[in-house]
Amino acid sequence: PAPARLATPPMGWNHWNKFRCQIDEGIVREIADAMVSTGLRDAGYQYVNVDDCWQAAARDTDGRLTSDPVTFPSGMAALADYVHARGLKFGIYTAVGEKSCEGRPASGGHYAQDAATFADWGVDYVKLDWCGATGDPHALTSEFRASLDSTGRSMALGVSRHGSPWLWPDRPADLWRTSADIDDEWHSMLRNAQEEAGLSGAAGAGKGWNDPDMLQIGNGKMSPVEYRAHFSLWAVLAAPLLMGNDLRRMDPETLSILANREVIAVDQDPLGVPGERLRTNGGEEVWARPLAGGDVAVVLFNRGPHSTEIRTSAHEIGLRPAHGYRLRDLWTGQEGTTPGSISADVPPHGAALFRVTPNAHGPAWPTLSAEADYLE
Ligand code: GLA
Repeated sequence: PAPARLATPPMGWNHWNKFRCQIDEGIVREIADAMVSTGLRDAGYQYVNVDDCWQAAARDTDGRLTSDPVTFPSGMAALADYVHARGLKFGIYTAVGEKSCEGRPASGGHYAQDAATFADWGVDYVKLDWCGATGDPHALTSEFRASLDSTGRSMALGVSRHGSPWLWPDRPADLWRTSADIDDEWHSMLRNAQEEAGLSGAAGAGKGWNDPDMLQIGNGKMSPVEYRAHFSLWAVLAAPLLMGNDLRRMDPETLSILANREVIAVDQDPLGVPGERLRTNGGEEVWARPLAGGDVAVVLFNRGPHSTEIRTSAHEIGLRPAHGYRLRDLWTGQEGTTPGSISADVPPHGAALFRVTPNAHGPAWPTLSAEADYLE
């Protein structure tokens, strides 16, 4: 089996959350343009991914997958070229069985042929769905991976949650869904985040990435507070950041969330270790993620209906003992220092996100009494 290929979680855009089957090549081209003009490409977003419904109702006379003649008349190679010309990468959707979730032709019985077709077209990323398939998910994913690899083109592979890919000892996929489809709705986003609790050890650099599904930020049915919580959690989870909104028409607040480089830096941290939920009680949760260089990112998350003060400590979130810490609020940009306690007043459905840095001038390791002092 091929090693996992993505050193950090993929970032980009996918049409599904906003457009479903109401998608065409013109929209995809405009999205690629918008990704550049809004600065999102330069903030780190790379992939422009077409989801289900790009396929024609039947394979062509050579048995090759072909694009819908009405909505993608120029073909997928031309679309990939357009995306590549803007310094971006191109992704496509297929499924393990004979039909996609929307009943279009999928790759069952055609893995080698479809992998070759995708390589021909210049595809960089394949989302391999499960819908309607029978058989062993691990065996089928491994076979699909081998087909991709035998083309000689490097393509990332994202799969569904069937067969619990996070438990597989080898990693034929680069990322795997961990939950049901996300809706643009608080409880759906919350459920997908919660289902990753306990799974952090399964993912990371060299293993592949847990995928709580694509972003709903900017689709309009959650509040800005909820969308910031959504982005904060995804960053600390080391989740793929695949935007799912209409990048051509974004309000400034949506763009400011998606383009927050300090939050993106948490998601893309080079240590490549996903965060974990450390504590949940009442509506309060503490999630933390170790970062390269000894920093820790911490989310103080309020699931409940009332504003509340959430507290943690440098010790609880796994920071090394030090004579003080610098705190940076990644949403407000506010800086502070603390001997060890970390707290914030968090609005209902909100999240505070801090990067915490141990004071460089502190001792590397404390004496026992200094440790006791630091525990408060
Ligand atoms: C499944 C996937 C979704 C989307 C649709 C397309 O439901 O989980 O992300 O790709 O199929 O039909």
